[in-house]
Amino acid sequence: MVTPADVDLEVTVGKLRLRTPVIAASGTFGYGEEFTPFLDHAQLGGFVTKGLSLAPREGNPPPRIVETPSGMLNAIGLQNVGVERFIAEKLPRLRRLDTVVIANVFGETVEEYAEVCRRLDKVDGVHAIELNVSCPNTAQGGMTFGTDAAALREVTAAARAATRLPLWVKLTPNVTDIGALARTAVAAGADALSLVNTFTGMTVDVERRRPTLANVRGGLSGPAIRPLALHLLLEVRRSVDVPLIGMGGITAAEHALQFLMVGACAVQVGTANYLTPAIGVTLAADLAAWCAAHDVRAVRDVVGTLTL
Ligand SMILES: Cc1cc2nc3c(=O)[nH]c(=O)nc-3n(C[C@H](O)[C@H](O)[C@H](O)COP(=O)(O)O)c2cc1C
Repeated sequence: MVTPADVDLEVTVGKLRLRTPVIAASGTFGYGEEFTPFLDHAQLGGFVTKGLSLAPREGNPPPRIVETPSGMLNAIGLQNVGVERFIAEKLPRLRRLDTVVIANVFGETVEEYAEVCRRLDKVDGVHAIELNVSCPNTAQGGMTFGTDAAALREVTAAARAATRLPLWVKLTPNVTDIGALARTAVAAGADALSLVNTFTGMTVDVERRRPTLANVRGGLSGPAIRPLALHLLLEVRRSVDVPLIGMGGITAAEHALQFLMVGACAVQVGTANYLTPAIGVTLAADLAAWCAAHDVRAVRDVVGTLTL
């Protein structure tokens, strides 16, 4: 008989070892230290920082968040302290937290992406880079990097050349053929793919007859997107042979198991951190309980076990 304490929760994403398969997602976990009152970081698989750019950014004007059925729309506008302040102020404190730190990186040009990666490559305490390619490419009329194969290839290859750290490319779901874009990212040097980022959406304030968000459009996240995210994960699993990190609407161990069974070797939890800040730790414990109840000794043995 397997007890929850016997269950091995360790997983690997390429060469990177994680104590559990549950990672806190970018933009929903600040720079990590904000969550120290709520949980022990050593009990997480790791966390992804808020997206980092070369210069600090203030983000969009409010309102920039609105609740939607089983989810939320956000148009934060990639507010962040910039990579230099992250390295000088946040990273020294993160090194003491005994957790895996994945730096989420974005830019408005290919060169900006590469420069942020180059600077993160030189410091201690960052374990992997996750490229947020859901960002407008100003050199190409604002088209999102991750929706165009040529731009995705170029930005991934530039980041690859700029760092020796494991490179995860985070795919946008707002595309027609996610499998083809997954192949493009892998061919350009991605070690792993994370998916998905938010789905573009909007809501209307009927009294004001205006979009609810000042930015008009926002990104939809939370349980509403879970079936969509799972389907896209399956598409990508059939298209490439690199480690996948799945996310979208996970709020319970059963949801994490769905992503693992479809073929993700780890999962990220985003919106749910706002309701339950320690959910990443609870999910790992619940995964161990599920494994024990099903006589599974290592959670990695669940990965890819979906029967089609
Ligand atoms: C408020 C907010 C801010 C986010 N900021 C980022 C970001 O800076 N970079 C990024 O790659 N994804 C960002 N995301 C997307 C999440 O990391 C995640 O991909 C998405 O929310 C789906 O997961 P969930 O349904 O568990 O929230 C953000 C999401 C939210 C809700």
